[in-house]
Amino acid sequence: MTQPMKLFTPIKVGNLTLPNRVVMAPMTRSRAVGNVINPSAATYYGQRSSAGLIVTEASQICAQGIGYPDTPGIHTEAQVSAWKKITAEVHSRGGRIFLQLWHVGRISHPLFQPNGDLPVSASAVAPKGSSYTHEGMKEFVTPRALEIAEIKKIVEQYAQGARNAKHAGFDGVEIHGANGYLIDQFLRDGTNKRTDAYGGSIANRLRFALEVVDAVRAEWDQTALRISPSGAFNDMYDSDPLATFGALARELDQRKLAYLHLVEPGEADIAAGQKPVRAADLRPLFHGPLMVNAGYTAARAEQVLAAGNADLVSFGQSFLANPDLPRRLRDELTLNPANPKTFYGGTEAGYTDYPFVD
Ligand SMILES: Cc1cc2nc3c(=O)[nH]c(=O)nc-3n(C[C@H](O)[C@H](O)[C@H](O)COP(=O)(O)O)c2cc1C
Repeated sequence: MTQPMKLFTPIKVGNLTLPNRVVMAPMTRSRAVGNVINPSAATYYGQRSSAGLIVTEASQICAQGIGYPDTPGIHTEAQVSAWKKITAEVHSRGGRIFLQLWHVGRISHPLFQPNGDLPVSASAVAPKGSSYTHEGMKEFVTPRALEIAEIKKIVEQYAQGARNAKHAGFDGVEIHGANGYLIDQFLRDGTNKRTDAYGGSIANRLRFALEVVDAVRAEWDQTALRISPSGAFNDMYDSDPLATFGALARELDQRKLAYLHLVEPGEADIAAGQKPVRAADLRPLFHGPLMVNAGYTAARAEQVLAAGNADLVSFGQSFLANPDLPRRLRDELTLNPANPKTFYGGTEAGYTDYPFVD
């Protein structure tokens, strides 16, 4: 590229100054046996510390929030102390790292739940499809709609997750409001059929997300939120994503987030007849740092930054497969291809052994 790359200019995110705008997107790796982050994650994340910012794999705020095998949590002492080794390694290599806070809601199965209970959601609406469990694929069940007192408790669990993340040495937290998990289940009207203060109107559907943001933000000003307004993953649908998420962006604009992380949909992922919500749609509504994701190359990232539609770009699969991704993007070097067979679970293969250029 002849122009200096905007990807490699610094940016402020909360109280941090990132040296570049190349962010490692959150990616579940299912290697956290016993829901405690695996020691080799120190090497994995440490190798990727040239990112402007690393966002970790999604991490449960409570046992009820688990929906996949071997995903880490941030609600027990053992989990917090294991994460300390990862943050220390990233910091010793000059990097910055946010923890992604997670509750899967209905994307779970009684096999993952304390006492074999039903998974919970905004409403008793079952997702189509199956859950990948330790006992193989199991059809999703119809979840139980949360009582209001339980919703308040989960809001507090997000705040506790943020406190724990701070103790574990993270630089901030990203609340997972995307991809059809609990917060998203409240936001969209395909899954939220409630008739109380948490459902019905857009303002009511936003209530849970905003209560979580406010509770976490009250603990820590280093708070971000991830959303996927048009994504259909996990059987999600909203009748008017631009209205729902436009209203959310306006509310968030008043709340001084470290950043808002927007997953733009792939073409195959958009509900029939809908116009996808893109960064250009939210930019006029949200004036803080806006991060975009999904399918970005260096060239497309430069375009979205130059157009002023986003401030940061996160990279998933390409960062998974290229520990030195910023260098490769800057110098226009060939990228290692990602191997989906080693995404989830397994050994160091496809985890810490992707080669660096040098
Ligand atoms: C192996 C894998 C695990 C993922 N896990 C998460 C996750 O824990 N949290 C999340 O918000 N997104 C997760 N995602 C989605 C990515 O953050 C990202 O949105 C997706 O890979 C698209 O970006 P890309 O085209 O740059 O790969 C995951 C993606 C992959 C490939």
